[in-house]
Amino acid sequence: MNRKVTVFGAGFVGSTTAQRIAEKQLSDVVMIDVIEGMPQGKALDMMESASIEGFDAKVTGSNDPAACADSDLVVITSGIARKPGMSRDDLLKTNAGIVGSVCESIKKHVPHAIVIVVSNPVDVMTYLAGVKLGFPKNRVMGMAGVLDSARLRCFIAMELGVPMRDVDAVVLGGHGDDMVPLVRYTTVAGKKVEDLIPKGKLDAMVARTRNGGAEIVSLLKTGSAYYAPSAATVDMVCAILNDEKRVLPCAVWCTGQYGVKDMFVGVPCVLGKNGVEKIVELQLTGDELAQLKKSADHVLENVKRLNL
Ligand code: 2OP
Repeated sequence: MNRKVTVFGAGFVGSTTAQRIAEKQLSDVVMIDVIEGMPQGKALDMMESASIEGFDAKVTGSNDPAACADSDLVVITSGIARKPGMSRDDLLKTNAGIVGSVCESIKKHVPHAIVIVVSNPVDVMTYLAGVKLGFPKNRVMGMAGVLDSARLRCFIAMELGVPMRDVDAVVLGGHGDDMVPLVRYTTVAGKKVEDLIPKGKLDAMVARTRNGGAEIVSLLKTGSAYYAPSAATVDMVCAILNDEKRVLPCAVWCTGQYGVKDMFVGVPCVLGKNGVEKIVELQLTGDELAQLKKSADHVLENVKRLNL
């Protein structure tokens, strides 16, 4: 294929992302990981599924960061995942070291790529990537809002017994306990969800969305979610590679939108061939804006802990 995506980190999120990209025929994929043989083994295994799944995308694995050269887009999933009882913030220092060194490789070998950060705590890691890469800010973004919105859509669809794709929801803010699910903008086939589900139940779904990652961690016990995170990541990859101009909530550089300045935070934006092409400003209430500010402030506190 004439497009190439590199996925740094061949753990569950990284390898599932690579698999989804290949199966959707979006591009060739390279997985890079420090564990010897692991990305190569997973890549070969995927290639051996190609004749059955019917894809022509080439999947390869490498331990050499230089293998990312010539990529159109790079996804960073490298880092450790949460264990039960840990918050995403507990990963901060360890993952900052790992993501920082991945960024050095990206800067050296593929300075024109668009970069999607998935490693947690994702808003802070995206900020770190923004600083370390020094790329124009439209080419650096974090994946969180698509995942959080998908979780809320799932809980609503399961509650109402309606098709998932008929539910529209948008979750803003950081990817943490203080994310901002916008219930007012949540609809089911055009109807406001507030008219379909009683407030108490809706509040419980919002709380479950905020706790969505931790719920999976406590069930799996040895790792964190990967099916939905990889699907959300590939939704963004697809929007960019195919220049779809979709409006998706992503952690992007704000320059005053929603009252947030010089920070990466989750807001709706247009994704196309240039990466983040525009931030879409929804009308928020004072309370929603205050929640978004609180969430952005929390991200900023953690950014400061990194002394960048
Ligand atoms: C999650 O929410 C991994 O942060 C990710 O599941």
